[in-house]
Amino acid sequence: MTKKVLLATEKPFAAQARDQVVAIIKEAGFEAVLLESYQGKEPLLQAVADVDALIVRSDIVDAEVLAAATKLALVVRAGAGYDNIDCATAKTKGVAVMNTPGQNANAVGELALGLMLYMARARFSGKSGTELRGRALGCHAIGATGRALAGAAIGIGMKVCAFDPYVSAEAMRSFGVEPVEKLEDLYRRSDYVSLHMPANKETKKSIGKQLMLLMPKKACLINTARAELIDEGELLQVLEERKDLRYASDVEPTAPTAAAIKEKFQDRVYWTPKKMGAQTEEANVNAGLAAARQIVGFFTRGEKQFIVNP
Ligand code: 3PG
Repeated sequence: MTKKVLLATEKPFAAQARDQVVAIIKEAGFEAVLLESYQGKEPLLQAVADVDALIVRSDIVDAEVLAAATKLALVVRAGAGYDNIDCATAKTKGVAVMNTPGQNANAVGELALGLMLYMARARFSGKSGTELRGRALGCHAIGATGRALAGAAIGIGMKVCAFDPYVSAEAMRSFGVEPVEKLEDLYRRSDYVSLHMPANKETKKSIGKQLMLLMPKKACLINTARAELIDEGELLQVLEERKDLRYASDVEPTAPTAAAIKEKFQDRVYWTPKKMGAQTEEANVNAGLAAARQIVGFFTRGEKQFIVNP
């Protein structure tokens, strides 16, 4: 029987990416169904009921969604982080979960650079700012996104170092980045620290007072990764204690932190109105098409590469 593939994107892809995803699915002889810009969980619960595969972005695929998706065999997260998917429950139900690593990395890396520029140039207020050239950037984790940012930062004359227990010092040096052995040293020496690790048990709330207070005068923490990485209570304390530190993010702090920041520290903190790091035509095409191809490969050739819940 023909496979039915649902593309469910609360934050939709560029039309060009969506159309190409649909074309790949149809070309394989499968049926494509779209659920874009939906609100609340109900439309997703209904749409997944009879699909064999699902493509999502940051859309929440929890136990309830998986329970409603009785025919589901594969979920592909068109992107890097799959913390929005209940991978353990999927596994118990025999549902494979994949991501599309690296496909949107350049877009997120460029946005991180943009946030750095925005903060360096006094939030585009016209007041005198500073330049990035000659400043130190520390990448906290240096996977595909960290590498994209590092390349761009080196290009404009920043000195880049990184801490990442999963990437060898040799590999870091090969892309022009100085490896730092101790995480504390990365924070101590970086005018900008940019977060690029996934949100998991080890990393959630791992960025707090201890690390942020090590940062040099007028330093700025850049978060295009996940809000959950930050100990938000401690972020507030740090902003209170260190009137020079700044925080720029592509992920809105949760309530009540967001409200407290708006009231007290607005001049030193910025976040985008809606998570937009991967929101470029190129990243949408790259991640969307990779997801569609992975689905076709899974059903037609039994391809299992990129499964994250084996
Ligand atoms: C990712 O994990 O790939 C990024 O955070 C992008 O997420 P998005 O697809 O929801 O924009």
